[in-house]
Amino acid sequence: MSQQIDPESLRSYRWFGPDDQRSFGHRSRIKQMGLSREDYLGKPVVGILNTWSELNPCHIHLRERAEAIKRGVWQSGGFPVELPVMSLDESYIKPTSMLYRNLLAMETEETIRCHPLDGVILMGGCDKTTPALIMGATSAGLPFLFFSAGPMIPGYFNGERLGSGSDMWKYWAERCAGNLCDEDWHAMEDGIARSPGHCMTMGTASTMAAIAEALGLMLPGASSVPAVHADHVRVASACGRRIIGMIAENLTPDRILTAEAFHNACVTTMAVGGSTNSLIHMLAMAGRAGVDLTLDSFDSFSRSTPTLVNVRPSGEFLMEDFFEAGGLPALLEVLRPLLKTDALTVNGQTIGENIAGRQIIRPEVIRPLDNPISPTGGICVLKGNLAPNGCVMKPTAADPRLLRHRGPAVVFENYPDMKKRLNDPDLEVTADSILILRNAGPIGGPGMPEWGMLPIPQKLLKQGVRDMVRLSDARMSGTSYGSCVLHVAPESAVGGPLALVRTGDRIELDVENRSIRLCVPDDELEKRRAVWKAPEPYYGRGFGYLFSRHVTQADKGCDFDFLHAGVPTREPEIF
Ligand code: FES
Repeated sequence: MSQQIDPESLRSYRWFGPDDQRSFGHRSRIKQMGLSREDYLGKPVVGILNTWSELNPCHIHLRERAEAIKRGVWQSGGFPVELPVMSLDESYIKPTSMLYRNLLAMETEETIRCHPLDGVILMGGCDKTTPALIMGATSAGLPFLFFSAGPMIPGYFNGERLGSGSDMWKYWAERCAGNLCDEDWHAMEDGIARSPGHCMTMGTASTMAAIAEALGLMLPGASSVPAVHADHVRVASACGRRIIGMIAENLTPDRILTAEAFHNACVTTMAVGGSTNSLIHMLAMAGRAGVDLTLDSFDSFSRSTPTLVNVRPSGEFLMEDFFEAGGLPALLEVLRPLLKTDALTVNGQTIGENIAGRQIIRPEVIRPLDNPISPTGGICVLKGNLAPNGCVMKPTAADPRLLRHRGPAVVFENYPDMKKRLNDPDLEVTADSILILRNAGPIGGPGMPEWGMLPIPQKLLKQGVRDMVRLSDARMSGTSYGSCVLHVAPESAVGGPLALVRTGDRIELDVENRSIRLCVPDDELEKRRAVWKAPEPYYGRGFGYLFSRHVTQADKGCDFDFLHAGVPTREPEIF
């Protein structure tokens, strides 16, 4: 073993070490798998939590990468064990993978706690898997390291590079406007997702990977390595080697996930032009770590951090370009004056040490401080009588003309209502209208689906309209763009003011002043509130019931109220 670890100090020793009947059972069952004492006895046991699934194309290479991780663990004198946990695929899971983020977080925490593990490597990448795994492992409290699926290679169609999600939305609008034939549409379907790996725009997956690295939970530079690059395999085996050192040093998450680490993650989110979803996930992760982070804190980071990363949907390039431009370490070196450089990371060094001297290779992709994409961060937090607890918007992905806008509301009661009426030729809607979708929040959705980028009505698309203000208590895909005001809190299903808006009401959006206002007198709103009725509960049993009773609102991170940091959970007894 390269790191000196007293075998009796290991957590797993409680299962395998004692000379008693129970430990005999544990040891004999290891041998049942064809392993011998030399393979495992006295060695740190490393759990590899794998979210591989054949219905998760973003993770389809993770079985192979698990083998590379195991190679690294063996090399450093550990004993690797691969454990499957729920795979939250973004493409297929309905009504939304967000409904199950907390379920995977709970599964992760309990899988770690109940098994004879000394350290953990988390394998995720597709949107919700990253925060879910980190939330659960943070609560479990053993040394852990995050390994990301990595972005897929760029999409390709007719000589043009395509970005996941972002270009699908763009070309779907063209198809609805009658500008794209069947043949081209099918060719795009062949070319937009061409390899294993997560979405290769700066969507939620890429943003969350960047956040994981900025938090200090990944090896330096690992977050943007393309999924099919040889470096991706090398990073996997390096993770396997490093986790043994983390166990030897007792490098537990409470030493890494400090207020300083979350500060660095917030700066990173703004500088990369990150996904609006990442705010919800960061609030939830901070809640697990016991770090005080609020929705308002993000707005101050937004005001003080420039957007430097020129990747879609806020910019032009794709994640492969970001990797070649130097990746996160090069970006963070530019941002050094804004960072807490003493924050500790999984390799045992500070983030300041990890990024020292990293160079930007392609300044058109990672812009210098004096030539940003935007002088402020990519996400802002708005408040007003329509969203007393806040809502969010991504101004860098919106038509600048709409950042200050007043218009009449066109209200849709829920998603089915929107689908039914949006393209009705008689719908009274103009480019100045503000489309409202309610009952799409954590409880109303349920699960806060990514419905916030409401489609533009077909008749407006045909007139050439490509952006308009849309407002909801939903989320939107991190790969989406447009003037979408999201995460309105409290949500309409619990009686937030969004529930009181009527078609024709004037709404005022003022991004510069961070305000969103329903221009209806208070006494009129009170009259409407008096006759408002809450929608029928969506779930009468099962996980959805638990979810609806305990999920917090978007401004608090949508975790379950009983999972926040607090009284530590007891270790299992070994009977
Ligand atoms: Fe998996 Fe986008 S669908 S990251």
